[in-house]
Amino acid sequence: MKRSKKPNYKLRRNIAKILLVMIVLLPIFIINRVKILNAPLYISNLKYSKIIDTLFSINYTKDEIKDTINYLKNNKKINDKTNDYIIELDDKGYNKTTIDYVLRNLKSSQITEFLSKKYNKDYEEYIKNDLFKYSKFDRYLNYQKNNKNLSIDEIVYRIELNLDKEYYEDSVIVKNPNDITVLTNKYLEIPEDYEPDDLVDMSDDYANNSYGQKQLRKEAYDKFVEMCDASRKDGVNFYAESAYRSYDYQKIIYDNYVYENGKEKADKFAAKPGFSEHELGLAIDLANIWTITTKGEEYAWLSKNAYKYGYIFRYKEEWEDITGYAAESWHIRYVGVETATKVHKKGMSYEEYYIKYIANKKN
Ligand code: DAL
Ligand code: ZN
Repeated sequence: MKRSKKPNYKLRRNIAKILLVMIVLLPIFIINRVKILNAPLYISNLKYSKIIDTLFSINYTKDEIKDTINYLKNNKKINDKTNDYIIELDDKGYNKTTIDYVLRNLKSSQITEFLSKKYNKDYEEYIKNDLFKYSKFDRYLNYQKNNKNLSIDEIVYRIELNLDKEYYEDSVIVKNPNDITVLTNKYLEIPEDYEPDDLVDMSDDYANNSYGQKQLRKEAYDKFVEMCDASRKDGVNFYAESAYRSYDYQKIIYDNYVYENGKEKADKFAAKPGFSEHELGLAIDLANIWTITTKGEEYAWLSKNAYKYGYIFRYKEEWEDITGYAAESWHIRYVGVETATKVHKKGMSYEEYYIKYIANKKN
């Protein structure tokens, strides 16, 4: 009779022990490796541009980033310079957001240039601003020198609006004159041949037509009528004294101001032809002009309610250095109810709102 072989309990126990240790340790090992190695393993298969992207999208500490970079470097997945840049930027004291921005957006020559600048805490503020553009860095710094009272956010959005340039210098022609939300100002020009195709005549009930039929774009007019009716119910009365103006008509107005007051003063009161919201068929000067002051009941009513009908004030005293115009308590602009509501809530000039939320499609 064949004797059955005695099971090797010792071996089994050892195997079991090893398995147990592996079962316990493996997840810990995996978790640890995932933390440091996941990026390289995953990143190894990515294109260079994506490597940087991924590196910074994982919330690593600086040391971990360095480890990962060294791994990538040793495996020839990343060029030596990137490693040096990170270390130099880090040594200079720049934070991760700044390093991230610099690596992602700057060319080699620009990084070298940036590294040649002395560390400046303001640079980190600039760089984390949504509207920051490295190509405009010198303009920010110049503007900051001349406007020490402004915050970095104010400097960045003002440069985006070209406020450091002379009026009408390098103006850009707007591509969307038909958009209800279009911005025109001393830097953004309406195409010379633009004429809205949905102008409607305003009724005598809502406009002074005694020296020429007033017109507005249809949507702006309908909302203006609604707004006037609502205000009249509250015992407040205003109407349009001026509305749509053709390029030629705006030219007469502007030239007249220049003739009477000189160019510098004229530029505070009237837009050069091609640069007036009135040419969009979306702006109204309210009458009785002399009663629409910031102290009048019409102004108070409009301040509280105009946005509900899609209208905003464009030229307030506190925005004079943004709009370039002296305050006009009688000038309102139609931008649509949705936009007007947001502008009203933010309490911003339309320039600021437009450049931050419309031009850059932020919510
Ligand atoms: N008065 C305003 C700025 C215009 O002429 O459009
Ligand atoms: Zn006006």
